[in-house]
Amino acid sequence: MRISKVPYKVDQFLEKKWNLFAEKEKNEISKQIIQMSHHYQNPEGLETPWQDFSRAYLFYFFPLNLARGSALFQSFEKHFSWTHDHLFDVGAGIGNLNIYQKVFPNLLSGDLTFIEHSSVPTDLFPTEGKWLKKWPSSIPPKSLGFFSFSWVEMKTSAKELASFESLVLMEPSTSNSARKLMALRSELIEEGFQILAPCTHQKSCPLLIHSQKDWCHDRIHFEPSPWFLDLEDRLPMKNRTLTFSYLVATKGNLKSNFTGEARVIGDTLKEKGKTRQAVCLDDERRFLSWLKKDFKNPETLDHGILIQIDGEQEKGNELRVTPTTRIEELGPDRKIEIL
Ligand SMILES: C[S@@+](CC[C@H](N)C(=O)[O-])C[C@H]1O[C@@H](n2cnc3c(N)ncnc32)[C@H](O)[C@@H]1O
Repeated sequence: MRISKVPYKVDQFLEKKWNLFAEKEKNEISKQIIQMSHHYQNPEGLETPWQDFSRAYLFYFFPLNLARGSALFQSFEKHFSWTHDHLFDVGAGIGNLNIYQKVFPNLLSGDLTFIEHSSVPTDLFPTEGKWLKKWPSSIPPKSLGFFSFSWVEMKTSAKELASFESLVLMEPSTSNSARKLMALRSELIEEGFQILAPCTHQKSCPLLIHSQKDWCHDRIHFEPSPWFLDLEDRLPMKNRTLTFSYLVATKGNLKSNFTGEARVIGDTLKEKGKTRQAVCLDDERRFLSWLKKDFKNPETLDHGILIQIDGEQEKGNELRVTPTTRIEELGPDRKIEIL
């Protein structure tokens, strides 16, 4: 099971502050979180209303986004190695990339610049790096652009994104935002990028071409601390699992690739007579399937992992697992170096 937490130092910082609030203040913050959640459901990708909702962001959206990003960088670090000289956290909010740098120093080395046009979030949590209010006049070579829940809001074009050598984009797991990312994927390929994750191939996105509303997303399990559970008790929504959509791309040279391997892109679906789970390995919409007659207790694969499948039987869009099929999760020994 893929489990994520809020990075320890941030969790401690928030816990101390949260525990100092009176009940009345805690309830006010909870009401703001609900209002802000409604605001973010607008499909147009409305601006983050920092002025009135900074505490709601700090205690709810910030830690949850950090748990999501930590899970992404953890799985990325398992399978890829790369280096950049410069890192840009674009639409940085509180400055999440600095926190990830401390947790994943090998993956995220380089000097750090935040681009954030609001001055409200920059003082909410101590960060190290240069803050800019606007996009700089040029992006230096060997730069990584990180957009955490900011690309749809900022509406940055593929041409502008192409000034980075590598990109990590995360967005909410909604049909609207995720399908925008899926469409961006082909524009990035046209701009000379190779997609590193979640896709294991450079062909068209099967969910985009074979479905009108499906969206590619990841799901992880979230382990909250007691202070967060206290906050969550005041909310109608619970967060035992967290979802997000993402895209990682680079113009760097890859020493190998994942062609032939698959990403698990769905939860386990129990149906009459079989169990299915969506996987992606090329431009076809595919499901691994375990027939009840062959498997009493079919395997369930963790959403989001990379696997190798051998000896399956292809039937329409199903990859049928038989008693001789082998499904193996790729380990850290199967790592791709990007130069
Ligand atoms: C949803 S927040 C995400 C914040 C942070 N990256 C995170 O993951 O928690 C989007 C951020 O993008 C910033 N933003 C939106 N448009 C911008 C622009 N044109 N230039 C710089 N920042 C912008 C907003 O102020 C906000 O902080």
